[in-house]
Amino acid sequence: MSAKFVYGKEVATTIRSQIVSELATLKELTGGDVPGLGVVLVGEDPASRAYVVGKQKRGKVFGYHSVVRHVPADTKQKDVLHLIEELNEDDSIHGILVQLPLPDQIDEKAVIDAINHKKDVDGFHPRNVGNLVSGKDSFIPCTPNACMKILEHIHYDLKGKHVVVVGRSNIVGKPISLLMLRQHATVTVCHSNTPDLAAVCREGDVVVVAVGEPGLITGDMIKKNAVVIDVGVTRVGEKLVGDVDVESVKEVASYITPVPGGVGPMTITMLMLNTLQAFKRKHGLK
Ligand code: GUN
Repeated sequence: MSAKFVYGKEVATTIRSQIVSELATLKELTGGDVPGLGVVLVGEDPASRAYVVGKQKRGKVFGYHSVVRHVPADTKQKDVLHLIEELNEDDSIHGILVQLPLPDQIDEKAVIDAINHKKDVDGFHPRNVGNLVSGKDSFIPCTPNACMKILEHIHYDLKGKHVVVVGRSNIVGKPISLLMLRQHATVTVCHSNTPDLAAVCREGDVVVVAVGEPGLITGDMIKKNAVVIDVGVTRVGEKLVGDVDVESVKEVASYITPVPGGVGPMTITMLMLNTLQAFKRKHGLK
């Protein structure tokens, strides 16, 4: 048996056309207003710069208003907080994203807390995290949302299934566990202190891996016909590699999201969707 590969580009295409058609209606309803996204980038990390350029490009394609505040790596925390305050007060900006990671002199939590939660299109602000935990309307973080859309795309019903999440980050592991619970799955979260990772993974009908350790998950750790979602991305030389050893896992799994090409290409589309949501809320539209 060889698993089917699920490519995010294909899943994103459908969502992008939904955004385009909704935008046309919204422009009329709002008298020509367009969604605005403000991005703060601190420093020169090549991966972060590439993500920000990608976000800007995609925003342009949709006709979003886009602002990037790019400041040097040694910028003081108070100056970053000032930039956020400006974006909070700017009526043409509906969504704000501060590209992570931030340099050591800047407290990530303080920065996230400073973003107006109504503009927090990353879904990282404590208000949005709390809303997600309690099942209220919130911005859903982009990568976990992309994973859920991939499962929707393959018509996977999570009800009663066992989902094993490997990794407990605030960006992926924790929110995805909550989203899976919302869909009535049984969820196990593993991390670096889990004694027998292989045994737990073998219980999973769905295994989501977000660690950043190439080759961590091998075929002998996967149940027959499981769905394997690889969120890990590590640069090895010129190549981007995931956490899943595809050669062995594809022999047992039913579906795999490859790296590159799986979840990654969807995350920017999810950000555009959240920015559209922020824009609609600002205009009192559902
Ligand atoms: N860096 C890596 N992933 C993300 C993300 O989803 N949001 C932000 N703001 N920074 C990131």
